[in-house]
Amino acid sequence: MTTFKALESSKGENQNTLSIIERSINDLPEGDLLIKVNYSSLNYKDALSASGSPGVTRNYPHTPGIDAVGNVQESNNPNFKEGDTVIVTGYDLGMDTSGGFGQYIRVPADWAISLPSGLSEVEAMSLGTAGLTAGLSIKALEDYADQKLEGLKSIVTGSTGGVGSIAVMLLSKLGSEITAVTGKEAEHSMLKKLGASEVISRDELAEMTRLPMGKPLWDMGVDVVSGSVLSLLLASLRPGGAVACSGLVGGPSFESSIFPFILRGNALLGIDSVEIPLGKKEEVWENFASDWKLDLSGLVREVSLEGLETEINTILKGGQVGRVLVNLN
Ligand SMILES: NC(=O)c1ccc[n+]([C@@H]2O[C@H](COP(=O)([O-])OP(=O)(O)OC[C@H]3O[C@@H](n4cnc5c(N)ncnc54)[C@H](OP(=O)(O)O)[C@@H]3O)[C@@H](O)[C@H]2O)c1
Repeated sequence: MTTFKALESSKGENQNTLSIIERSINDLPEGDLLIKVNYSSLNYKDALSASGSPGVTRNYPHTPGIDAVGNVQESNNPNFKEGDTVIVTGYDLGMDTSGGFGQYIRVPADWAISLPSGLSEVEAMSLGTAGLTAGLSIKALEDYADQKLEGLKSIVTGSTGGVGSIAVMLLSKLGSEITAVTGKEAEHSMLKKLGASEVISRDELAEMTRLPMGKPLWDMGVDVVSGSVLSLLLASLRPGGAVACSGLVGGPSFESSIFPFILRGNALLGIDSVEIPLGKKEEVWENFASDWKLDLSGLVREVSLEGLETEINTILKGGQVGRVLVNLN
């Protein structure tokens, strides 16, 4: 019987507790592909799952991890054979299906894509769901603008976090002039190095615009915060501009008025990286393997399963900078 190491979150009296345990592959759910996970990554949602957030995971004990890259060990599906390297992100992985913070997962074949040539396993998980979401946001903005983003002014919120930092790098690569919004005074120079031309605090953002509609400042925005930050972004878009929103670290609700939509033709584009058809994910991964290739080495810290608990606590407090790569080898 094959056993493997996994992080397990269990319900405690007041809060969930985390431990590293031995599990058996026989305890994994049914599925077409048994995958030996080599790398995973830490996303905000993983921290919610690990800490017992009922909106993410219903059943505990549970192994979180919404991202995984690794090798197929067993396949019931003709599209995959033993030894293939695959990426799995989203769907139910790490939510109620045992996830990438364990050395093995078993999943349906239609959750997996082959690792594109031109992308390493480390690169894939340095991007992870955060990178996929940044990529989907930028694709949505490009489609909406019906033009390349070169020369357009953009604003990115939560910019030192996973989605935000990769959005800054990608927008910079595509030639946009970026304003990065951050709560971290100490990271302004890091954001400039990633490609931001201007770095402002959340308070400065509030001073630059006003509700319900302020000066038109940006052609597009990538927002992971929601709440009052999203209200400000919507109030300060240029005519025809749009915000791609994917997150809610600042709260699930926001206020707006109809004015930006009917007076400036602005749009709010919702981004889902989880349940979309596999082909859409594949397109973004292919982009990251070619035209959108980024050097993420300066943005990523590598930890083992043992090092994850500290990182989970940091991301829950909004304190992460860049990405955390999880090495399961
Ligand atoms: N829709 C999807 O498919 C999808 C996919 C991935 C992620 N998400 C969501 O996107 C959000 C970000 O995910 P992530 O993995 O990038 O998380 P992350 O690495 O923790 O980044 C979030 C960043 O937001 C800022 N922030 C934190 N708390 C804040 C607050 N109270 N008010 C304003 N800003 C705050 C911080 O950056 P600064 O200090 O620089 O401001 C933080 O680093 C989460 O809500 C996540 O669930 C959604």
